[in-house]
Amino acid sequence: MRPTRRPTPLRLVGPVILALVAGCSDSSEPGGGSTVDIQLRGALAAANITALPPAPPQNPALIELGRDLTFDKILSGNRDLACASCHVPASGTTDAQALSDGNGQRGLNSRNAPDLFNRGAAGFDFMFWDGRVARSADGSLRTPAGAVLPSGLTGALAAQAMFPVVMRHEMRGEAGDIDRNGQPNELAAFDDNDFPGMWRALMARVLAVREYVGLFQVAYPATPVDSLGFQHAANAIAAFTVSAYSHANSPFDRYVAGDDAALSEQAKRGALTFVGRAGCASCHNGPALSNNTFTNIGVPQLGPGFGDAAPDDRGREATTHDQADRYKFKVPPLRNVELTAPYMHDGAFTTLEAAVRHYLDVPFSLRNYDASQLEPALQGTVRTDEVEAILSTLDSRVRQPLDLTDAEVADLVVFLQALTDPDARDLSSIAPASVPSGLPVGDQVAR
Ligand code: HEC
Ligand code: HEC
Repeated sequence: MRPTRRPTPLRLVGPVILALVAGCSDSSEPGGGSTVDIQLRGALAAANITALPPAPPQNPALIELGRDLTFDKILSGNRDLACASCHVPASGTTDAQALSDGNGQRGLNSRNAPDLFNRGAAGFDFMFWDGRVARSADGSLRTPAGAVLPSGLTGALAAQAMFPVVMRHEMRGEAGDIDRNGQPNELAAFDDNDFPGMWRALMARVLAVREYVGLFQVAYPATPVDSLGFQHAANAIAAFTVSAYSHANSPFDRYVAGDDAALSEQAKRGALTFVGRAGCASCHNGPALSNNTFTNIGVPQLGPGFGDAAPDDRGREATTHDQADRYKFKVPPLRNVELTAPYMHDGAFTTLEAAVRHYLDVPFSLRNYDASQLEPALQGTVRTDEVEAILSTLDSRVRQPLDLTDAEVADLVVFLQALTDPDARDLSSIAPASVPSGLPVGDQVAR
């Protein structure tokens, strides 16, 4: 297991060494001597943008079990997809596709697979683009399973792991499917709302593998095997996710921790534009660069859509049933964003530059969306019917054109790239060589 590295508090090393490292004649004071640094540090503090705290330590036995479960296709109805098939370690824990289709093994999924970076840190209380899995301030969990959600889940991340396995288009499959071994897919036979039935059947499947029984017993020594539920698997998957994918040692994190030399001058200019004139930090603020709210920034709609209104995707409204939430999506965190293209809830923008340029004139960008940046199969799925409806509830902060020069856009992109932890670039070594079910793992390591 790769240890989580903490940002180096260079400021503590002393003024002399700092000056040497900075190599910068105008940086006379430690931790922010130059005008740019004083200005930037002030603006970051005002936006409450601080270093992400280190990931909370996880129980090694849970990590071990969670790693196997994350890479094991046994969790999918047809035994053809694992969590890691769509959250691929070598692709920034995403699948590098606009809409996730599980390596082409499923029909088009409705949304873009988000990254899994740093999800154990405080503040990540909403899961999914519409926050349909959430942890309230009092610690209670709200999920699509309502009252039948088992107790004992460790948080929003663990609660999330209960759901890909019950969703037909993610992992469960269609009634009548035959799995990769030529056997009937018993999980697909359940009614869509019979969550307890599906979780029980899945645990029966997993615990039929002797090696899993041993791993669960080591992870949960006080729980008899016949009392194990899928919540125990979900807690282990969450423990693995936190331990494997907490990567916040970017140049930006080192800068925030006090190292003036960690960011290039261009990245500092970009950061100033981000927190200043471009107004990005009015939503992307706090330690994770997300204020954990939902809003409508006028992203073009494409693909099969989501929920009752499909092929429209009304975002947060499908969870809250409040029309005021129509077309609102979660403000995503931005660490390692360079590694997780394409962008937005449906992958509408292929590059960071395209994502940034969207903000220059949101109404224009939505009305004149260039579908040629999409994979050919998606180009014909762009929806134009809702464009004016989306614009009518656009967040007021992104209504006015942003007058940024090409150089300022380039600075913003360089700043976003400075949010990359070098250790997150290739996480393929995190994958186990094999998993207890014996199903293949190689195709999930990279794509
Ligand atoms: C077929 C591809 C696919 C598979 C398999 C899959 N996911 Fe996902 N995952 C997605 C997509 C797409 C979303 C976003 C869905 C949405 O927001 O409605 C998502 C969202 C998430 C999120 C929410 C992140 C956030 O910040 O909102 C987490 C965590 C996650 N998946 C973990 C898992 C785990 C754990 C498994 C296995 C049990 C898994 N996923 C299996 C595609 C997949
Ligand atoms: C009014 C709030 C708001 C402001 C201001 C804002 N954003 Fe966003 N940002 C969002 C939301 C919401 C999304 C996701 C929207 C969706 O998927 O429909 C997003 C998505 C993104 C993404 C894609 C991330 C991913 O993982 O897909 C990037 C990059 C981004 N914003 C950068 C910026 C930059 C740079 C600025 C300033 C020019 C900015 N944002 C201003 C709310 C905001």
